[in-house]
Amino acid sequence: MESLSKEECRQLREKHVGESLNCHMWYRHDPLRIVRASGQYMFDENGTRYLDCINNVSHVGHCHPGVVQAGIKQMPVLNTNHRFLYDELPTYAKRLVATMPEKLTACFLVNSGSEANDLAIRLARKVTKRFDLAVLNNAYHGQTFVLNELRPKDRRDNKEDIPHVHMIPSPDVYRGKYRNCDYTEEELAEKYAGEVEETFKRAHEQGRDIAGFLIESIQCVGGQLVPPKGFLTKAYNITKKYGALFIADEVQSGFGRIGEHWWAFQIDGEGVTPDIVTMGKPMGNGHPVAGLVTTQEIGGALSEGRAYFTTFGGNPVSCAIGLAVMDAIEKEKLMEHATTLGAYFKGRLQDLQKKQPIIGDIRGMGLMVGVDLVKDQTTREPATEEAKQIVNRLYEEKIIFSRDGEHENVLKFKPPMCITQEDIDYIINKFDMIFSEITSSWTN
Ligand SMILES: Cc1ncc(COP(=O)(O)O)c(C=O)c1O
Repeated sequence: MESLSKEECRQLREKHVGESLNCHMWYRHDPLRIVRASGQYMFDENGTRYLDCINNVSHVGHCHPGVVQAGIKQMPVLNTNHRFLYDELPTYAKRLVATMPEKLTACFLVNSGSEANDLAIRLARKVTKRFDLAVLNNAYHGQTFVLNELRPKDRRDNKEDIPHVHMIPSPDVYRGKYRNCDYTEEELAEKYAGEVEETFKRAHEQGRDIAGFLIESIQCVGGQLVPPKGFLTKAYNITKKYGALFIADEVQSGFGRIGEHWWAFQIDGEGVTPDIVTMGKPMGNGHPVAGLVTTQEIGGALSEGRAYFTTFGGNPVSCAIGLAVMDAIEKEKLMEHATTLGAYFKGRLQDLQKKQPIIGDIRGMGLMVGVDLVKDQTTREPATEEAKQIVNRLYEEKIIFSRDGEHENVLKFKPPMCITQEDIDYIINKFDMIFSEITSSWTN
């Protein structure tokens, strides 16, 4: 392939790639043209290094040698589909299932998180013989037609109320319906679980029983929201009480990113055994691997008439790559690293908060951290415009960050898991400098 200049690349892309994709390009005013990446760093055409704080897909590090070698080794040997018998698919499935609660033993491999969630909904509807779905407000679960309907009104194609979609207030203890300035953690869990109960009850009374509750245990696009302790268990019990399936979306939070657990649905202890767990992004470290794990009973629901098939899901190359990612997480002790470094980052942010009033809330687990920026720490008014400026200033300082949350005021930190303490010190120094610039312009 011929190498292009940055301007040629930009023009070609504007000309031949759909605007609905181009409008998502980071720093569109001056896009970053990446030519290579390694570990937690990306490099532009001039060899300038950028610290990557957002590419959670490159979970064990960009171009991880073990993952790359796994692909190189498998590609010249065999790549086919799951209608043949080959070792890689069941070997990988066994490895995935080993991270799950005992009753989840049936694995489906697909190509994207959206496909995994879409399939989970299809299974839930088939098993329960119901159609309706419950999700948290500000949820993002992917891009298929069905999943687009689950997004907030202003972010989806259909702006009307959709009767079969039941939205539940997010357990956002900082700026949600019930706040940590007014209630204890126990009360918050109770209050937010009450909203879940209310939603399921209302749906039942309307004759619209819910097939499945699709939920991220730590909501990501929603703003890295860690629910109050006990909420998930209560939400799970309510879902079961009303005969619906509990579908844990681990596309963002899975594979050890949160440090203490392999999966975020485990944060409440043993109380939550989802019916279906969906996964994606980090699974192939950039190679398109996604999937779900469920019970054998649910996993058999589409057997009749051989209703389900996938061409690429679970092919030998993808499975070899998936196995190499799991090897890297374990051999390089990346979960322990995420726990230690995440705590270090949050500690340094808490120190910085005393000096920088723009920091409203610091939340998250492991290497999944959100910094909620505010105009006023008491009113918690979101500092949306400032967050935008900060992300652009960080870019000038060669640090890649982005924004999440309903108000797009939450700095999102989900770097490759090999990020170091030195990188974090560098980020904190730049935060300090840039936050001072921004807040000094407030008072002037
Ligand atoms: C929580 C969650 N679920 C599902 C998806 C969809 O995954 P994909 O983009 O691989 O289709 C995303 C993507 O950002 C996500 O954040």
